[in-house]
Parts: sequence; C-alpha cells; structure tokens
Amino acid sequence: MSIWYFLSVWLHVILAAFWIGGMLFLPLVILPGIRNHPDRIRILYDTGIRFRFFGWIVLAGLLVTGLLNARLRGFTLNADFFSVSNYGRLVAWKIGIFTLILLLSGAHDWVFGNKALEEMQEAADQRLRLMARWSGRINLLLGCMMAFLGLLLSRGGQLPG
Ligand code: HEM
Repeated sequence: MSIWYFLSVWLHVILAAFWIGGMLFLPLVILPGIRNHPDRIRILYDTGIRFRFFGWIVLAGLLVTGLLNARLRGFTLNADFFSVSNYGRLVAWKIGIFTLILLLSGAHDWVFGNKALEEMQEAADQRLRLMARWSGRINLLLGCMMAFLGLLLSRGGQLPG
C-alpha cells in the first residue's frame, strides 16, 4: 500500500477525532464551565457558530478522505464494490449513516440549535432546546458508530467473530 493510503487514513482519523471530540467538548467542558457565567448564552452562541464552521469543513474532509481510503486500498468504487465484498458493504453503510449525520447536523445547526438559543434568551418554551440536545446526542452516537465501522474496514472488513 502506498504512502498516500497511510496519509489519507491518518488525516481521516484526525478529522474523526476532531468531529467526535468537538461534540463531547461542548456538553462535558464548555457547558459546565460557563454554567454561572452572566454571558452564558452569548458564549454558547459564539462557540457554536465557530464549531459549526469547522464542523462542516471536517465533514467534507471525512467524505473525501473516506472515499480516498477505499480507492487507495485498490478498490474501484462501482456498483459491484458496494454489494459483493464485506468491505464494500461496510463502506455503503458508512455512506448511509453519513447521510443521516449530514441531515441531523443541518437540522441541528440551522433549525433547532439557533432557535433554541434565541428562545433561551427570551426564556420561552424548552421544546427546541430539547431537540437541539437530542439531535446533538444522536449525532455523537452515529459518529461513534462510524468510527467502529472504520475500525472494521481498516482490518479488511472482517466482522468480529
Ligand atoms: C463522521 C464521519 C466518520 C467518522 C467518525 C469516521 C471514522 C473512521 C475511523 C476512526 C477510521 C479508522 C479506523 C482504524 O484505522 O482503525 C475510519 C476508516 C475508514 N473510513 Fe471513516 N469515518 C467517517 C466517515 C467516513 C465516510 C463518509 C467514508 C466514505 C465512504 C468513510 C470511509 C472509511 C474507510 C474506507 C475506512 C477504512 C480505511 C482502510 O481501509 O484502512 N468514512 N473511519
């Protein structure tokens, strides 16, 4: 396997770490850290917007390096690839789950997240806040599933026995 394959998997893993780490950092570090801060909503808003910017770049990078990983491992990405081998079927699953992540991130970033913060400012109802929280949690879970599928792929697509 060429050096490019290793570089592509390396970058893919760094991007995955950023994506999953970023989603954990907000609820585990930032939220408790600013709980009693008078400017809490503004800080949340500003950090959220920053993470959103890098988050979408990272998701694009994960798609590109993910497809490159398979290509540089010697596979041709045609219909047979996605249906014949375990490796191809797992990549098809990753693309399916990735589409869900994109949809959920779009809803989280542009619908629930922003609106929830606006409503928090007005101390209005908590429904959107709950949806923002749960779309974030489900995305974290899907991200962890993607890492597990990636781990199976890197070991040739063998399922654990
Ligand atoms: C949230 C998104 C994603 C996360 C968190 C993620 C995570 C990972 C991780 C951690 C690995 C490396 C595992 C290891 O080396 O043991 C991996 C490998 C891999 N990922 Fe992803 N991934 C994501 C998106 C994608 C997408 C969109 C594709 C596109 C098709 C993809 C295709 C692959 C492939 C083919 C490998 C295996 C490379 C090899 O053969 O060694 N990934 N992924």
